[in-house]
Amino acid sequence: MGHPSNTDGLRPIRLAVPDELRAGSLLLRTWDPEEVDEFERAVLENLEHLRPWMPWVALEPVPIEDRVGRIERWAREAREGTDWSVGVFVDGAVAGSAGLHQRRDPGVLEIGYWLGESFTGRGVATLASYLLTEFAFENEGTEAVEIWHDRANHRSGGVPRRLGFELIEERPADPYARAPGDEGIDCRWRITRANWPLRRPSPEDVLLRT
Ligand SMILES: CC(C)(COP(=O)(O)OP(=O)(O)OC[C@H]1O[C@@H](n2cnc3c(N)ncnc32)[C@H](O)[C@@H]1OP(=O)(O)O)[C@@H](O)C(=O)NCCC(=O)NCCS
Repeated sequence: MGHPSNTDGLRPIRLAVPDELRAGSLLLRTWDPEEVDEFERAVLENLEHLRPWMPWVALEPVPIEDRVGRIERWAREAREGTDWSVGVFVDGAVAGSAGLHQRRDPGVLEIGYWLGESFTGRGVATLASYLLTEFAFENEGTEAVEIWHDRANHRSGGVPRRLGFELIEERPADPYARAPGDEGIDCRWRITRANWPLRRPSPEDVLLRT
């Protein structure tokens, strides 16, 4: 997918992707194509958990070579600094996947996430998004970070709410990107560079407690 909104002359953000981001037992890092089996297991074990909200689940299971190709693309994007898709690991186990994407307005990075069902309810997505937001603002040109989710996906909305993002808009979603649980209204949450230090939770409040 391209970045259709980065067309008004502003330069895209170039992410200085680190080897990893860590906080306590949580680790975020670029997926390695050699981890395709672990990645696949996490997806296939959670299809019914993910299906209501993730449109790509309709295409599962995909051939292994497609999955490898996707992870290789993510690794290339990370090297080039255009996008960063990360594995989310808790105590070394695959908990899910997340990412920082340049697919909204210029100067905006969008966070996406999903967790395996057994890793929900522990603050993993909140902490991962906290780390990704901190990292996003370390990169020149990042003016705001956004999180978008369908209005029916209340658990997804809890993540930006806990992090001090503001709900700035509700608008009809792209009908071609609908998932089965979607109501069809996108909730758009945003935090600006200036507001992040004022509104973010303190790090000890988002650390995983187990
Ligand atoms: C969206 C999704 C990642 C949210 O997962 P989640 O477990 O609700 O979010 P977190 O990992 O941040 O955990 C928050 C929960 O853990 C609790 N929690 C426990 N310790 C916590 C801590 N240290 N910090 C924050 N929350 C903590 C919170 O109270 C909250 O529980 P609640 O939902 O009962 O209020 C998950 O539901 C999912 O994968 N859904 C399917 C895919 C999807 O919808 N992706 C997003 C598409 S837009």
